[in-house]
Amino acid sequence: MAYEKTVLDELSYRDVPAIIVGVALPESTPFGDEPLEELASLCGTAGLRVRGEIHQNRKEIDTAYFVGKGKAGEIAEAVKESGARIVVFDNELKPSQQMNLEEVCNCSVIDRTELILAIFAQHARTRQATVQVELARAEYALPRLKNLWSHLERQRGALSAVGGAGERQIELDRRMLRKRISRLKDELDEILKRREIEVARRSDLFQVAIVGYTNAGKSTLMNALTQEGVLAENKLFATLDTRTCIWKLPDHKVLLSDTVGFIRNLPHKLVASFQATLEEVREADLLLHVVDLSHPSVQEMIDAVDAVLGEVGAAHKRTLMVFNKIDCVRDRPLLAQLYERYPDHVEISALNGTGIDTLEHRVQEIVEERETKLDWSFSAANGKLLAYLKQHGKILDVSYDENTVHVKALLEPRFVAAATEMRDKS
Ligand code: GTP
Repeated sequence: MAYEKTVLDELSYRDVPAIIVGVALPESTPFGDEPLEELASLCGTAGLRVRGEIHQNRKEIDTAYFVGKGKAGEIAEAVKESGARIVVFDNELKPSQQMNLEEVCNCSVIDRTELILAIFAQHARTRQATVQVELARAEYALPRLKNLWSHLERQRGALSAVGGAGERQIELDRRMLRKRISRLKDELDEILKRREIEVARRSDLFQVAIVGYTNAGKSTLMNALTQEGVLAENKLFATLDTRTCIWKLPDHKVLLSDTVGFIRNLPHKLVASFQATLEEVREADLLLHVVDLSHPSVQEMIDAVDAVLGEVGAAHKRTLMVFNKIDCVRDRPLLAQLYERYPDHVEISALNGTGIDTLEHRVQEIVEERETKLDWSFSAANGKLLAYLKQHGKILDVSYDENTVHVKALLEPRFVAAATEMRDKS
């Protein structure tokens, strides 16, 4: 089917020369001094080689070309001069704008969403990640099937638009694609149900989820805390699947999950289809929001992560800010501002281990804040209860007085009912 052969697949991600374009509109979110730096980095991750950058400030979007017609001509000129085979827009394009631009530039034109989807497709490893990405790509492709057929025609050397036979083919593809979307949604529902069961099964442990902007150092932190051997790369979206493992704190055991990296303007369809992966975030008792302190756009990255957390219904979760990469901070005044704005924070270097002890103690304190303080006396014959308190809680003090045990302990609320029953039976 045409949509499976999207332009990036055809170019096989090998050093394909590209021109990148960014349009600043009055409502655009400002993003650092170098507005296209992130797009360039995304292109690098996808295997494109950026040969030129074009910027434009516009009051409003041009309906036909997104940029004005003159600017579209300038892009076409840059394509010709540099030998670029693809143009990547930082903004979201309508299918018709994409098609018009392709005609003028005589090469493929994609937007940021399509680029991110292609990167996600490259990195999907498990069935869940594959289904999620495929669903998002299929939904993205549905209104663009005509463009995709034009790509194929162009690759074969035909410059004309898709003709009558093509139109019938497009209609057939559209029907098949709708069926496929519906099958993928069913499969994803199944995965989600299984996942909910898994999450419920292990819910007797305190759950911590690591969130953060892509490349903030989440996988490096997960490795530092658990020696799990998770892939950590200087690439955007190296991680697509959630991994969960046990994190041993000095006096507690908690579950720690690493999640997919967030990004500003994360394609909407992707957020929707990544609900299963983000289940860990919704279910978590605590979020560790990892922040790359060495990046000049650190505040915008924090805001982008907060926006996605809002979208998945996790805006009000207890969150500890984890300021990472303290080993290579340049902007000290900015640091002071951040520390003031986010008083509940720790600073670390996940790479060289600085601050990891402090982070562990801070998380342990948070786990203990939620615990109930018990001050109980019960029969010394009730060894089972003492064992239960030792296993699930933290014993602060034990003393014996003839046949009675006096215990002071911290216990998570979820274990209190069972412990109380054991005490009352004795
Ligand atoms: P995604 O998978 O894209 O979401 O990335 P991530 O947040 O999991 O980041 P990852 O752990 O893969 O780290 C990204 C890059 O930052 C890697 O090159 C790491 O070596 C580097 N890095 C992580 N922590 C630190 C740190 O404390 N200091 C420095 N200097 N580099 C770090």
